[in-house]
Amino acid sequence: AKRVGILTAGGDCPGLNATIRGVAKALYQKMPDVEIVGVVDGFKGLIKGEYHEMKQSDFSGILTRGGTILGTARTPYKNMKIVENDVDKVAEMKGNYKKMKLDCLFVLGGNGTHKTANLLSEEGLNIIGLPKTIDNDIWGTDVTFGFHTAVGIGTEVVDRIHTTASSHKRVMVIEIMGNKAGWLTLYTGVAGGADVILIPEIPYDIKKVVKAIERRAASGRGFSIVVVAEGAFDAEEAKMKKKERAEKRAAEGITTATARIVRQIEESSGSETRMVVPGHFIRGGEPSAYDRVLASQFGVYGAELFSRGIFGVTVAQQNNEIVHNRLSDVAGKTKFVPVNDQMIFTARSLGISFGD
Ligand code: F6P
Repeated sequence: AKRVGILTAGGDCPGLNATIRGVAKALYQKMPDVEIVGVVDGFKGLIKGEYHEMKQSDFSGILTRGGTILGTARTPYKNMKIVENDVDKVAEMKGNYKKMKLDCLFVLGGNGTHKTANLLSEEGLNIIGLPKTIDNDIWGTDVTFGFHTAVGIGTEVVDRIHTTASSHKRVMVIEIMGNKAGWLTLYTGVAGGADVILIPEIPYDIKKVVKAIERRAASGRGFSIVVVAEGAFDAEEAKMKKKERAEKRAAEGITTATARIVRQIEESSGSETRMVVPGHFIRGGEPSAYDRVLASQFGVYGAELFSRGIFGVTVAQQNNEIVHNRLSDVAGKTKFVPVNDQMIFTARSLGISFGD
């Protein structure tokens, strides 16, 4: 019988369980005697050799469940950076893959995970990736599972903030997750009818942000909704290295981009301003119908790749087709929002300001 492992690594997101289920159900359909092993807590479990023998029933009732039944961890990362060429860890993972007698390992994760997946693939292991992340920043796929659920939750946050903003005539600054890429903030901002969207791909000028807020006030709408990606920065900060930027902010007594923007708006406009940080709220809970469908398609396609003996790849969606890319093409890249993206054009055409 064939024996496959599944692991989930990096930050969790809705749709991981639906994907695991998709892989498992499709495998059992194709090869009823397949043995499935669940690696505990991502690569951490692979390094330590911690795993569970899974039963078919373990994959029932998990389609709607948030998070991951297998557990996850950021290992082998430090401060979001992979410990590159960490020979020991890679050797340990390889050793445990062999000990577990796996014919293939399915790896569900984001950019960091794909880097590690590629390292393992280069070591000769049979790896199939599945692209998860609320950030939607994996190269080579139009969409990742988890993203649209997160857009939905972010939008609910913005909707609720809208009514209180309007009652109090305040500027509400809402921070949306996304340290590198602004996809989630962009889509949430458009869906929630934000007035200003600030993302890392478009460094902002606080004067322009304030102008947009003042323009609204002048037109009689006394409140504004600003959605900010965690990783946003202004044109001055754009010239700095990440570390330098962090040091400068610390000296200003401010740790996050959002807190800085709130202060800048208050100082420049005098508007009463409040900050909202939904944080991991956006990542929790059950996947949307869209993500359940996408996760199922991805999982089933992954099982198909296994049965055809195609490894060293990761599943993707391009122009509504489910396809696969080579791990070596995906590893180490980030899919940023192009400044001429159609959705940026849409937002601008709706009168939304990017503060540029
Ligand atoms: O990659 C997903 C993500 O939620 C990012 O949007 C965010 O910057 C980061 O993870 C938060 O990481 P953690 O869950 O480790 O705090």
